[in-house]
Amino acid sequence: MPIKDLHKKPFDEGTLTKLQIFELYAREWLPVFLSKSSPSLSKIHLYDFFVGPGIDSKNILGSPLRILQHLRNFQRLDGFEKAKIHIHFFDNAPKKIEQLKLNVKTHGFHVSNIEYDIQPLGFEEAFQMAKKELADPHAAKLVFIDQNGVGNVTPEVFRELVNSPICDFLFFISSSTLYRFHEVSSIKQKIKRPNDYYHVHRSVLDFYRSLVPAGKQYFLAPFSIKKGANIYGLIFGSAHLLGIDKFLQVAWKNDQISGQADFDIDHDNLIPGQPTLPFREMLPRKVGIFEAELEGILRRGQITNELQIIELCVQHGVKRQHAENVLKDLKKAGIIDLNFRVPDIKRIKSPRPIIMKWE
Ligand SMILES: C[S@@+](CC[C@H](N)C(=O)[O-])C[C@H]1O[C@@H](n2cnc3c(N)ncnc32)[C@H](O)[C@@H]1O
Repeated sequence: MPIKDLHKKPFDEGTLTKLQIFELYAREWLPVFLSKSSPSLSKIHLYDFFVGPGIDSKNILGSPLRILQHLRNFQRLDGFEKAKIHIHFFDNAPKKIEQLKLNVKTHGFHVSNIEYDIQPLGFEEAFQMAKKELADPHAAKLVFIDQNGVGNVTPEVFRELVNSPICDFLFFISSSTLYRFHEVSSIKQKIKRPNDYYHVHRSVLDFYRSLVPAGKQYFLAPFSIKKGANIYGLIFGSAHLLGIDKFLQVAWKNDQISGQADFDIDHDNLIPGQPTLPFREMLPRKVGIFEAELEGILRRGQITNELQIIELCVQHGVKRQHAENVLKDLKKAGIIDLNFRVPDIKRIKSPRPIIMKWE
């Protein structure tokens, strides 16, 4: 199937959602490693392996210029020059790389004091080259793989990313393609066909989850994007609770109903922005299931601090803020006692307790 050049037209809505999620995540990620108080890291590497020319036909910014825009904004941050920042932009189309270099200049996005590595390279070669840096335990890495289709994030590539220290990644994948052509031998990833086609991207995530080494704590989250009849999606990965927490905040900003799609993935028939209803059965399915489980666990005394609540939120793919109502209700009912409303991600090393009142 010929691949359309998406930069010759205006980006469609799904592409803009994808770019917005990546951009918002990068905006949250950067200050963690740029700030003075971050652990002593000597380098930061930002990878965009399918970089494109930087803009669409209407001058809307693509992923590389969005990264540079935020770096430019953070330039004045205390500690900006503490770690050396390396930008790696690759695309297999030499013309797009030339256009990108030009666009960086003409749009005023050249940021001083960073190392630029902008090259016309295909993914396989570029990824091979990046392996040494990805394995560096003293460098923080953010990786964006905005592939066309499905073929580049092979199990080997995925495992390499998962095993890289201090490395968060986001990759895009055409989940519908895997659904339709999962018997085609050139497509190596195998996914289980879901009963509900809307959940095809979740099945793709399950496939990748099965590749995480047994016993390794690793966090993955999906975000599904629908374009016509096709479902695409982003898969996010991080070894750190802080990373997945930031991603969930970003995802719920884009989808207030389920935090994981730009369409009604759970058939909730709710409209984003609609005021929340006071009855549990009127909540979006996902939030309702989470609240019921949290309440049961708290009533049984199986959660004793805020860190355990954060972990439960991550398992359910909800934000920490979703725990607030249950905590408030159980406190009011005299079942638990605690001195916070929303679990705080900054407290994961010294979590505040939750005390059972009948103890
Ligand atoms: C979906 S576009 C990327 C869009 C970009 N992230 C943006 O925001 O504008 C995919 C890009 O990947 C490039 N590409 C396609 N196959 C490639 C490969 N095997 N290796 C590297 N780049 C590739 C294309 O030239 C195209 O610019």
